[in-house]
Amino acid sequence: MKREDLDALLKDMSIEEKIMQLVQIPGWSFEKDAAVTGIAENEATDKAKRLAGSILGVNGADKVKAIQEEYVKNHPHHIPMLFMLDVIHGHDTVFPCPLAQGATFDPEISRKGAAIQAKEAAADGIQVTFSPMVDLVRDARWGRVMESTGEDPYLNGEMAAAMVKGYQGDSISDKEHVAACVKHFAAYGAAEAGRDYNNCELSEYALRDQYLKGYNKAIDAGARLVMTSFNTLNGVPSSGNKWLMRDVLRKEMGFDGVLISDWGAIGEMVPWGFAEDLKEAAELAIKAGVDIDMCTESYAANLEELINSGEIKEELLDEAVMRILNLKNDLGLFEDPYHGACDERHKEIALSEESRNVARDAVRKSLVLLENREETLPLKDKKIAIIGPYAVEKKLHSSWALSLDPEKNVTLMEAAGEADKVSLYLGMNKAISADDKQNTIVRVAKGSTVLDNDTVIGNGEYHDDDFEETNERLYAEAMEVANWADTVVLCLGEDLGQSGESTSRADIMLPDIQMELFYGIRKNAKKLVTLIFTGRPLDLEHIPELSDALMICWRPGTEGGHGIWDVLSGIHSPQGKLPMSFPWVVGQAPIHYNAFNTGRPKPEEGPGDFTTRYLDCPNEARYPFGYGLTYSEFEISDIVLDKTSLKKEVPGSKKDKITASVKVKNSGLVPATQTMQLYLRDISASRVRPQMELKGFKKVRLFPGEEAEVAFEINEEMLRFWTIDNVYDSEKGKFKVFIGVDSATENEADFVLE
Ligand code: NOJ
Repeated sequence: MKREDLDALLKDMSIEEKIMQLVQIPGWSFEKDAAVTGIAENEATDKAKRLAGSILGVNGADKVKAIQEEYVKNHPHHIPMLFMLDVIHGHDTVFPCPLAQGATFDPEISRKGAAIQAKEAAADGIQVTFSPMVDLVRDARWGRVMESTGEDPYLNGEMAAAMVKGYQGDSISDKEHVAACVKHFAAYGAAEAGRDYNNCELSEYALRDQYLKGYNKAIDAGARLVMTSFNTLNGVPSSGNKWLMRDVLRKEMGFDGVLISDWGAIGEMVPWGFAEDLKEAAELAIKAGVDIDMCTESYAANLEELINSGEIKEELLDEAVMRILNLKNDLGLFEDPYHGACDERHKEIALSEESRNVARDAVRKSLVLLENREETLPLKDKKIAIIGPYAVEKKLHSSWALSLDPEKNVTLMEAAGEADKVSLYLGMNKAISADDKQNTIVRVAKGSTVLDNDTVIGNGEYHDDDFEETNERLYAEAMEVANWADTVVLCLGEDLGQSGESTSRADIMLPDIQMELFYGIRKNAKKLVTLIFTGRPLDLEHIPELSDALMICWRPGTEGGHGIWDVLSGIHSPQGKLPMSFPWVVGQAPIHYNAFNTGRPKPEEGPGDFTTRYLDCPNEARYPFGYGLTYSEFEISDIVLDKTSLKKEVPGSKKDKITASVKVKNSGLVPATQTMQLYLRDISASRVRPQMELKGFKKVRLFPGEEAEVAFEINEEMLRFWTIDNVYDSEKGKFKVFIGVDSATENEADFVLE
């Protein structure tokens, strides 16, 4: 439809019709006898089903088509409804959770994954996904860290932009793509004490310098929607924050797409104590520029009265409706209201071999090897035990993989069983058959339940009447298997219900039952490889020093088992890097590498009295941001700068730049990929600057003995920050550049900006 046609359409719509474009209803509205949340009266329920502009949480091409057909037929202007869903890290094929994708430091793999998710979801009836989540996360107590790509603004921005490109492709009118929704705007990741839905108390400096950067890149990449966050920012709920939404998001960042509230967030301004009732909440939200009210009755019940009484102008409504109509138009819904949804096609493409291969590659790249003493990994022995609840656990996805079939997930046990020259035995019951004698023998034992009895998790409470008995039996079997093996691979982790929305934890350790298993196995195992399946950084207690090798596997998704086996067996070297610092103890949270130095930094040697320190634990993370081992060794040369000063103002069009390079040599015995990281530090500035900030990364794959030069460009733009004059600018003076394999690197050089 042309712009003039859209204008004409808008003109012709009644106030009620226009208001209802701004209303989103939940998927169950079309289940038989369902009441529509947020639309109180029965009469209104009917109205919502006839007129609401969008719906979330329905998928299935035939189902979507049936709802859409009826809806368009009955709608006074035959305007199609928008179908939205949380396709966060997979629709049918589930990729590693976003935090794990952050660990790949590989935006291209996320782009590919997002494109596959879009294709599967679109065929299944979805037109908009509520992803990427770009919240900067520093507090492992917050369960939603799993949905973000981590603690660094630069990494977040690169990953988010790639996801947006993957979801949206070149054009959202393409039936294999969906519109992306950046969330949760803004600063939801800074929720106080890691408690979900909480206040975020942030200076404008921290907000602009750290928290907004990731969202900005996603918006620059063309994301068509933004979602408001649940939190308050310095006392103002996002859905009513006019300054944040109109001045910062729309004017400064140039966002002209659809702004949707999070679920119920407009109504939540009442319990927050920011609005007296839903009417006031509606007024605040529309004035702030929120176009769609996700699942409350605020807009549906109050906007008309607010317009009639002159409290809000009809232009505000029209502006919001036009943004929604534009999105529908760009998706091509006026021509094809189903956006290509088709059950046959969906069945054909879902979980294709090609998609599974991309997911498997993403898993391999996301695994972070934290310890590998005496080259325990890759596995070399002929008698391997795979023990622990995650040896056999099918739930390898997260609470945000909504439409997958967990039976399609591949466990580590299954992957080992499929491998060449490997024979699999359950427990110790069977003797090894003569045919298998030449093979690697893998024996499997579950060892324990995932959770302790009566643990509260995101989706309820875990309870097992036979808890003691089951675990006694599992434990005894696991010890026998461990005794038999030359190497034990112990698979431990958080439950699926322990990370995601509303899963804040005051303690971030593994369940006691698994730690008991760990200590038992440690006593019995000759060599111990511990794998941790998790949605957040954990307090690993004594696992690191008592394991011969330790690897973080996150929530790896459909191809988890395959990808992990590829790395354990040495077909691939691990290459993942931590996207979030792993603390020693929960008391260090929030912890992040890009902190300030303070005026009293703790000296590296000697007593730390009256300096910034903990009495009972180091300042640094146990494993820092960017950290992760490979199966090889790398030698990194000193940094070479082609010059040591950069000009701030350069006449002519060419911007001045410094090239900073290092030589990277694979001095080990196997081919491996290393992720080289560029960090900068502003030595003195009008506001205190972080000790270091990631500004670039490059992967380099080298064969043993091979050497390559890795060069980064440093330009003035990379030195800009939110200055004391409240502008993004650089300031002349001294800088440091660091190039290394993680954020703990001391490989540094100096330059000046003049
Ligand atoms: C609430 C969550 O905060 C948000 O991330 C999600 O997209 C919406 N619900 C819709 O499911």
